Amino acid sequence: MQNIKILNMDIYITKDYDEMSKKAAEVVASVVKEKENPILGLATGGTPAGLYKELIAMNKAGEIDFSKTSAFNLDEYYPISKESDQSYYYFMRENLFKHINIDTDKTYIPDGSAEDVEKESEAFDKLVRDTGGVDMQILGIGTNGHIAFNEPADNFPTKTQKVNLTESTIEDNARFFDNIDDVPKEAITMGIGTIMNSKRIIMLASGANKAEAIKETVLGNVRPQLPASILQFHKDVTIILDEAAAKDLLESL
Ligand code: GLP
Repeated sequence: MQNIKILNMDIYITKDYDEMSKKAAEVVASVVKEKENPILGLATGGTPAGLYKELIAMNKAGEIDFSKTSAFNLDEYYPISKESDQSYYYFMRENLFKHINIDTDKTYIPDGSAEDVEKESEAFDKLVRDTGGVDMQILGIGTNGHIAFNEPADNFPTKTQKVNLTESTIEDNARFFDNIDDVPKEAITMGIGTIMNSKRIIMLASGANKAEAIKETVLGNVRPQLPASILQFHKDVTIILDEAAAKDLLESL
């Protein structure tokens, strides 16, 4: 496994998705073991699913205990009910929570059925602040460089809020739905400010379709049109890539 350091970023290049997931699980597990009351920031999507499988296996083998862990999720579609099997609420329950010994009363996901989204968003940010901040935030990345659902824009949104999804994100995520018209056009997302307040960040990316966004995240100008580039300003970032996602970055060094 190759390891390179660029600015504040500790970058690991693994051979494939499985090795990426195992390395990520090692890093996340170290935080859960080291903190008395660990606070994780969780992501959804195809990328972290393998990491969650590894964490489930470690929990079942008695290697890691989640009983004192709290977790905040980055985002949720809007509008969507918790019961919908396309909701991130459902994703987290099926892919992680129901398989590990986490107290689900300490897991928080923006409510995609909230009537007063502004109130819901403010309460979410307050909850994150009140816990003292996220110890480790897990991030994927969109092909357009988005993190959570913070899409390319003219500024970096700071707070949790409702946003419109771009056409490219709707197309990317259509693979999880029967029909592209079923993909919600909006979402509630943690803002970039809240993400940047996390003590540590771990970003995962797998596959050639992420290669350009990863190169720009690490080496490009920091700009809101490529939201993940803001990570260059964070003090403690680990990026775990597979070879396909690392290709453009490695060719530019
Ligand atoms: C979604 C999520 C992001 C995620 C991204 C990539 O839009 N809101 O948090 O990082 O897509 O998803 P995937 O891992 O499936 O490629």
